[in-house]
Amino acid sequence: MTPDLMRSGTEALAAHQARGVSAIAGAEPYFGQGVALYVQDITVSFDGFKALNSLSLAIDVGELRCIIGPNGAGKTTMMDCITGKTRPDAGRVFFGSNIDLLRLTEPEIAQIGVGRKFQKPTVYEQLGVFENLELALKADRRARAALFARLSGAQRDRIDEVLALIHLKDEADRTAGLLSHGQKQWLEIGMLLMQEPKLLLLDEPVAGMTDEETERTAELFLSLEGKHSLVVVEHDMKFVDQLTEGRKKVTVLHEGSVLAEGRLAEVQANEKVVEVYLGR
Ligand SMILES: Nc1ncnc2c1ncn2[C@@H]1O[C@H](COP(=O)(O)OP(=O)(O)OP(=O)(O)O)[C@@H](O)[C@H]1O
Ligand SMILES: [Mg+2]
Repeated sequence: MTPDLMRSGTEALAAHQARGVSAIAGAEPYFGQGVALYVQDITVSFDGFKALNSLSLAIDVGELRCIIGPNGAGKTTMMDCITGKTRPDAGRVFFGSNIDLLRLTEPEIAQIGVGRKFQKPTVYEQLGVFENLELALKADRRARAALFARLSGAQRDRIDEVLALIHLKDEADRTAGLLSHGQKQWLEIGMLLMQEPKLLLLDEPVAGMTDEETERTAELFLSLEGKHSLVVVEHDMKFVDQLTEGRKKVTVLHEGSVLAEGRLAEVQANEKVVEVYLGR
């Protein structure tokens, strides 16, 4: 590349970066009140059918919250509203106490610190495990200026740290496509972690995993608790039990609203909850 071309590439990148940031200029979430996410009275209608019906929910900074509920309860739709994929007809969604997520686009919401894990892993199958994490790091707006540069020592350390967290240290040079389903899921979680999200939304993260992988995933999430807020949607009650450690609050959704909240054993003994699970 000639110096001229290189400069114009760098300038284009800087301009792109400035545009991306300007849309949320000066917008840093404020977590001083201890609330990471506040969903207030959101309603989503699909052809008159209310997938979410005045749903309200608050997640604390560093909290690990499990959300359960029968099929069609609105769990995924709720995540779609938080991440900007679906716009609710009514209600508000706040990140920290100051960022109105309903005014931001999907990429802006990701940039500001909300990471989402979909059910199907979407790693770059042809690339190595390390390279996948490197790519995720460079997609981060704070590292974009370094797109043409080599990894710094600190960046390398961060990748190594995440490799250890997701139990893939020994697989760093392996082609991602050769990993097991569970390992791909962990790699994708690792890619999210490279962007250091404040809030992580995980929709059925252990679906299709072996028992051992499921247990390791619970350990991983427990190690992230406190540093990140996590919202975990899951049908696997053994997994939910492991995550909540007999004391954390679980939210039960049904027909687009909160049906019950409390410890897992409490909500499982709740008559209304038993009824909606038996009735499906
Ligand atoms: N794009 C859409 N158009 C029409 N209806 C939709 C759409 N998305 C979701 N729904 C409906 O909204 C309701 C809530 O769906 P959602 O996927 O949020 O449920 P869920 O709690 O995630 O269920 P599951 O546990 O099966 O994943 C369902 O009745 C679903 O059929
Ligand atoms: Mg769903």
